[in-house]
Amino acid sequence: MTKPKIITTGGAGYIGSHTAVALQEAGFEVVLMDNLVNSSADVIHRIGRITGKEPLLELVDLCDEQATKNCFSKHSDAVGIIHFAALKAVGESVAQPTRYYRNNLVSMLHVLEAMHQHNIPNLIFSSSATVYGQPDVLPVTEQTPLQPAASPYGQTKQMNEVMIRDAVFAGELKRAISLRYFNPVGAHPTAIIGELPLGIPNNLMPFITQTAIGIRKELAVFGGDYDTIDGTAVRDYIHVMDLAEAHLGALQYQLNGSQSESYDVINLGTGLGSTVLEVIQSFEKVTGINLNYRIVDRRPGDVAAIYANVDKAARVLHWHTQRDLDEMTRSAWAWEKYARETLGL
Ligand code: NAD
Ligand code: WQD
Repeated sequence: MTKPKIITTGGAGYIGSHTAVALQEAGFEVVLMDNLVNSSADVIHRIGRITGKEPLLELVDLCDEQATKNCFSKHSDAVGIIHFAALKAVGESVAQPTRYYRNNLVSMLHVLEAMHQHNIPNLIFSSSATVYGQPDVLPVTEQTPLQPAASPYGQTKQMNEVMIRDAVFAGELKRAISLRYFNPVGAHPTAIIGELPLGIPNNLMPFITQTAIGIRKELAVFGGDYDTIDGTAVRDYIHVMDLAEAHLGALQYQLNGSQSESYDVINLGTGLGSTVLEVIQSFEKVTGINLNYRIVDRRPGDVAAIYANVDKAARVLHWHTQRDLDEMTRSAWAWEKYARETLGL
């Protein structure tokens, strides 16, 4: 029997590669469409080592209209698309707004046009908790009003959501779900795939692991005077394998006809907030390493605290996170060591 085909745009990246593993293990054929602007082709060999089958990688820049059309024509039998492809660095988006608007909006437009042309019915979109800004009430539900975007990156996520919603309401696209991820961290339990940021990491977890392995001298903890239990900022960290499994749940929700709203929005987090110091303490506990860190000024643009209400994901996707903060820090460290010491990355 032929396996149902899923296209993952940006599928060679961090979240896409873990989702490819979950999709293949659930019996889907996965086609990755990626221009490798923030990833590397060898991830397909590593996905293959985990699952026993290498997914197909189509090298395509989704901002190239003709190339995107050609690629979708080859794979018009896909039953769904998961659109991960985007540039995602908040600070870089402030410095290079037109690059971010072009990449994240034009690629989205081409994906929507291709889905319309080929009647591909199901779309899942990688949105972000960044759309909420600093909410007045915690935890945030999907009904929490969105705040004006704090960066061009955040603006592209809000605009992408609107583009998808309008395409669905006009009947150009049958159904779609925007998944609003909170703070994805960690790696596959084999440590064969994980997050590998280019250059100096912006995000906390890769900065922690790179400091521990000696690539960075010291971790700067941004702000020790927030109104939180220990003065450092609170986030909802979610294990990337839990996130990958949520994509599977969302896809099955679409494919089995249960999606009642043609356009839906779902938060993906654990529902728990952790401070920066709690993440550091977890890392030190599971690795036995004393991390070199220092509390410095707040980072401009950071919110004090945000974490998700995940009742909707539980209710409609029957999905619950399985992995705790210690598993996130443990797997992130295992991947950092494997990437540096075995893969030589
Ligand atoms: P990533 O950078 O590892 O993966 C994104 C992939 O998209 C990369 O492989 C990149 O090469 C590809 N890509 C970018 N522009 C492209 C284009 N024009 N054509 C083809 N491929 C292109 O990022 P990730 O962490 O895996 O994030 C995946 C998605 O989730 C992104 O949309 C991101 O904005 C969103 N998201 C990420 C986080 C996070 O903290 N990692 C949080 C919330 C939302
Ligand atoms: C987490 C906490 C920092 C680095 C970002 C994007 C968001 C989403 C996820 C894509 C904060 C602190 C960090 C460091 C630190 N991405 N920190 N020292 O800012 O919550 O969210 O990634 O959609 O849009 O904004 O994540 O990992 O950068 O920071 O103290 O070197 O760690 O201040 O409190 P953030 P993060």
